[in-house]
Amino acid sequence: MNRQELLLGTAGAAALSAASLFYAGGAAQPPALQGRRRLLMPPLIDATETGRCSLTAQTGMTALRGGQPTPTAGYNQSFLGPTLRLSPGSTAMRLHNALPEPTTTHWHGLLVPGESDGGPHQVIAPGDAWAPELVIDQPPCTAWYHPHIHRRTALQVHWGLAGVIHVSDGRDDARGLPSRYGIDDLTLVLQDRSLDASGRMTYDTSMMTLMHGATGEDILVNGQIGAVAAVPKAIARLRLVNGSNARIYSLFVDDGRPLHLVASEGGFLPAPTSLSELVLSPGERAEVLIDLTDGRNVQLMSGPDTNQGPNGMFGRMQRVLNRVIDRSFPVLSVAVDETLPARITALPEALDGSLPELASDNLATRRFSLDMGPQAMMGMMNDNGDPFAINGRAFDMRRIDAAVKLGTTERWVVESTMLQHPFHVHGASFQVVSEDGGRPRPQNAGWKDTVLVRQRAELLVRFKQPAPKESPFMLHCHILEHEDSGMMGQFTVS
Ligand code: C2O
Ligand code: CU
Ligand code: CU
Repeated sequence: MNRQELLLGTAGAAALSAASLFYAGGAAQPPALQGRRRLLMPPLIDATETGRCSLTAQTGMTALRGGQPTPTAGYNQSFLGPTLRLSPGSTAMRLHNALPEPTTTHWHGLLVPGESDGGPHQVIAPGDAWAPELVIDQPPCTAWYHPHIHRRTALQVHWGLAGVIHVSDGRDDARGLPSRYGIDDLTLVLQDRSLDASGRMTYDTSMMTLMHGATGEDILVNGQIGAVAAVPKAIARLRLVNGSNARIYSLFVDDGRPLHLVASEGGFLPAPTSLSELVLSPGERAEVLIDLTDGRNVQLMSGPDTNQGPNGMFGRMQRVLNRVIDRSFPVLSVAVDETLPARITALPEALDGSLPELASDNLATRRFSLDMGPQAMMGMMNDNGDPFAINGRAFDMRRIDAAVKLGTTERWVVESTMLQHPFHVHGASFQVVSEDGGRPRPQNAGWKDTVLVRQRAELLVRFKQPAPKESPFMLHCHILEHEDSGMMGQFTVS
């Protein structure tokens, strides 16, 4: 492998070396790419054998566009972090904070107890380390990790602090699923940034940005702009992670071929679901298969952000200011490279995901209203002056908002105000039983931990992990600017 092709420059490359087994097959620059840059995967740390994993949150410089580096941060490298492959059982994690400020590291999608969850209460001071033991007892899935330090989450993620986790039981071959990292099994972190003319990343802190969340005009996949994914003439698996602060993608393939959803955040579905469009809001993950056995190159596209365009609060005003991406835009070019090994050439008929019936008459019900504007005024006046709230109260580290009984299932009714909000629950999985008064969208059929609430969603949430009041679980909007400014609550499970 060519060193300079490693993700994000020499500083990162030096730190990665041994772990980087990605990109083992095929020529460095296949002719199918026609001279364009090949999309690289994050380096892979396979902890399924070693049972241990070490990460350092650090700052650095990264050339995101053109030759001009911009200050960034990442784990073990200058932007983003390695993909961690974990298997059921115990993994000794070590997180070293080499940032100039406190951070935390949250395992979004791992079902672990509150003490190991890495929420806002598990602060790692600069120079310190945190070493939780992660005991994984959940189906295979795609999860991710990112900072969760109260009031600085949006900024730290924007700097580049985020990485992907594969929970793997090593049985994907038996499932008939593509499983070769970076060859037919692609890990894709979707993000957007604003880069100025000199390639410097900017973060706007105006009221408008706070209201909608920070979006940018440059689309990054694994920290790269305009790179092309090379895949075999076969079925390819895309593990999509929306790591953006606020942007909602409506993904589709330019020539109209379907995306076959095989896994939602909580693991595999019982069978693939064919979708013409997949909406992915911040924090959500989806695994889709795309059939490229016809050898044609395609483009993964996105429709306009449903929170930003004409539907957005300031839609009209933004249009006048000409800041709206009011049309579809390319997310990733996919080129078929016939020199890569074609392993899987047919879709699996069934998968081993299970969706047990959770509904029953005597479930405890809770309601959460994700509040902006008038609904949040109470919070603004009473609490910390934060503009957003849940049920009229802005987040408070010292206040527990709900106490859930361990081992139970509850019915949570979540309502959005003014915008669509991606609602996320820590330490638990849920099924979506209704959306906006109707049946859930097909893409929300599986186990999830984050769901885009358009108006109202009804969830059945299963609580199997404990969280005491010293280290409660969070529930929040995953538009990070909303989360940081009050649209978050916390709950215990005991
Ligand atoms: Cu991905 Cu509470 O976060
Ligand atoms: Cu989470
Ligand atoms: Cu929100």
